[in-house]
Amino acid sequence: MKTLKTFFIRTYGCQMNELDSEILTTQLQKRGLKKIDEEKKADMIILNTCSIRDLSEKKVLGKLFEYKKDKKDKIIGICGCMVMNQKEDLLKKFKYVDFLIGTNNLLDINKVLDDILKKNTQEIKIDSNYEIGLEQFFAKRTNRVKASISIIRGCNNFCSYCIVPQTRGREVSRDYNSIIKEAKYLADLGIKEITLLGQNVNSYGLDKPKWKILFPDLLYMLDKIKGIKRIRFMTSHPKDITKDLMLAIKDLKKVCEFVHFPMQSGSNKILKAMRRTYTKEHYLQKVNLLKSLIPNVTIGTDIIVGFPNESDKDFDETYKLFEEIEFDIAFIFAYSPRQNTLASKYKDNISNNLKQQRLQKLLKLYHKILKSKYLKLINTKKEVLVERLNKDKKSLKGRTKTFEKVIFPGNQKLIGSIQTIKIEGFNHQTLKGSIVTKN
Ligand code: 5AD
Ligand code: SF4
Repeated sequence: MKTLKTFFIRTYGCQMNELDSEILTTQLQKRGLKKIDEEKKADMIILNTCSIRDLSEKKVLGKLFEYKKDKKDKIIGICGCMVMNQKEDLLKKFKYVDFLIGTNNLLDINKVLDDILKKNTQEIKIDSNYEIGLEQFFAKRTNRVKASISIIRGCNNFCSYCIVPQTRGREVSRDYNSIIKEAKYLADLGIKEITLLGQNVNSYGLDKPKWKILFPDLLYMLDKIKGIKRIRFMTSHPKDITKDLMLAIKDLKKVCEFVHFPMQSGSNKILKAMRRTYTKEHYLQKVNLLKSLIPNVTIGTDIIVGFPNESDKDFDETYKLFEEIEFDIAFIFAYSPRQNTLASKYKDNISNNLKQQRLQKLLKLYHKILKSKYLKLINTKKEVLVERLNKDKKSLKGRTKTFEKVIFPGNQKLIGSIQTIKIEGFNHQTLKGSIVTKN
């Protein structure tokens, strides 16, 4: 009989996966298990996986091969997007894996473990529908300052390159009463900042027309909760960034002036092949409207380079639009074909070398934009929510409302407070400064 007292979870991918790992952890702690940081010593290892790009899956596969050597009596489980994507094939490939749990079955973990311990069998729990139980389930959070709340799961957009609609299913908005209840629960614990999570947060409520509650309405409701100082949200699809939403951001004091709404490409030909449903002109219009309504707004994007048939001219259009918009936060990826997506039918005809060249070129531009922006911030004052002690254990780390990272000297008693920081310099993507006044 296997012993089961301790566990280790390795989380790959996005913030939704981080939150799912917190749900799993809470369930396992209820069972009396202890979470530890040393995977070698743990009685059970769980990999909460991501399938967004080939590299994400390769990292997991590498770990699984590694575990084979000292599996012994350890329990090994796989959760997350790779489970939804590869299902039973994973168990065929990795016969020593004990269980697979899909993204909609997180609350089944203890039942699965009971069965494994009793029967010593391989267990699989994969439902394609979102489990309503998750709505009422508030995960315990380890971070004392900020927490994520899932408000909508799944995606209906089927961008041609993306595996998410397959791994996370269709959009299901979570009952707003349950969201508010969780936000209040977090505020009571002392949490200061919440991030509303979803593959597509702006679609909130569209699948439940009877509620008559859309994303901006939800923001208005959450803004009233005492104790919560900041509200963030991600990710947004450009098609759903409405003027109502922009006005809500402008109007509501707690809602942060940072909008992450991925452009993906600046070429209309590529946007069409990606099935993004907007043109570069539409995208730019939204950016300009946002900037005119909320002058201090910061804008985040994801970009994919090397999509099939992306010519030098197409890439150049992306480069120019990036330069014009001056994105504040950018995640740039090389296209990676995913199984069963529409784009996987096109030939992946841009070489890795060219993908990397384009990626590096955009990164260089991004760093140049950041540098000139950060130079202008020197000697300005910023309100920073202190999140944690920095790695050097001497200074503190936090973020401005507009999402810039800031480091400054200070006592850890200030964690969780908002401090005014005078910006004095920067290092790469982090601003440096010192405290001006205490709140
Ligand atoms: N290849 C590369 N990047 C991808 N993304 C999604 N699918 C792929 C893919 N097949 C990127 C998109 C998305 C982000 C989360 O990941 O830019 O916005
Ligand atoms: Fe993927 Fe597009 Fe949905 Fe984002 S909006 S999760 S890129 S399908």
